[in-house]
Amino acid sequence: MTTQFEVRGLKTAINGKEILKGVDLAIKGGEIHAIMGPNGTGKSTLASALMGHPNYEVIEGEALLNGEDLLEMEVDERSRAGLFLAMQYPSEIAGVTNADFLRSAINARRGEGNEMSLIKFIRQMEGTMKELEMNTEFAHRYLNEGFSGGEKKRNEILQMKLLEPKIAILDEVDSGLDIDALKVVAAGINAMCAEDRGFLIITHYQRLLDYITPDYVHVMMQGRIVKSGGAELALRLENEGYEWIKEELGIVDETVGRL
Ligand SMILES: Nc1ncnc2c1ncn2[C@@H]1O[C@H](COP(=O)(O)OP(=O)(O)O)[C@@H](O)[C@H]1O
Ligand SMILES: [Mg+2]
Repeated sequence: MTTQFEVRGLKTAINGKEILKGVDLAIKGGEIHAIMGPNGTGKSTLASALMGHPNYEVIEGEALLNGEDLLEMEVDERSRAGLFLAMQYPSEIAGVTNADFLRSAINARRGEGNEMSLIKFIRQMEGTMKELEMNTEFAHRYLNEGFSGGEKKRNEILQMKLLEPKIAILDEVDSGLDIDALKVVAAGINAMCAEDRGFLIITHYQRLLDYITPDYVHVMMQGRIVKSGGAELALRLENEGYEWIKEELGIVDETVGRL
């Protein structure tokens, strides 16, 4: 069965304030969707709410992955169902090495009785680190502690590659990357494209999309998707900015939740 991911009418609130105001999205295996939009329009909120971050209260709507209701699941169950989020601001966890974290995440995903052997894990982790041009010493450092912005982003891609999700949400995975790192990260993502895997790539810039061609581009404003198109939409945004969309739709302030 090919992957089907569907979000319908998703509304969320933070501290009682509505942020997402009805998001609809359908991603099939093999498709790359990009969500673009100015700061403060709800992009990261969508990513976090889908992954099950406790701060983001779901008021209404559905999120189904292959027919399973994600919103009913705990975060680890969502991961086991095949959802993965590379966070915009990855957390630092002192005292837990990157390798320990990765191994726990993989084994949690595989489930009890089906754990990966240590030898196989090390082989896979080191092989993937080499592909991503990461020094294998990063395996033994505490998770993200003292990593540069670019190193954190590579590390998120490392996690994605090892976890082999069905739907990967990547939130500003291009931010803080120099051009060489950007190419490595993009190649890592492209190599993961498969019939049964879909991508949701959140980005401000066309830059990443020069290396990863999206099938669909969505623009988020005021907590909803206000425009969708193909790869050409991202190119137009690169050239003309977001003003024309705001004019077209009569939007004055595109942000949500501004105090
Ligand atoms: N944990 C939070 N607490 C309070 N407000 C938040 C929180 N997370 C996001 N917001 C607010 O929600 C709005 C959308 O934020 P976000 O989803 O991060 O936007 P984007 O990723 O598009 O820049 C912003 O106004 C932001 O201040
Ligand atoms: Mg964001």
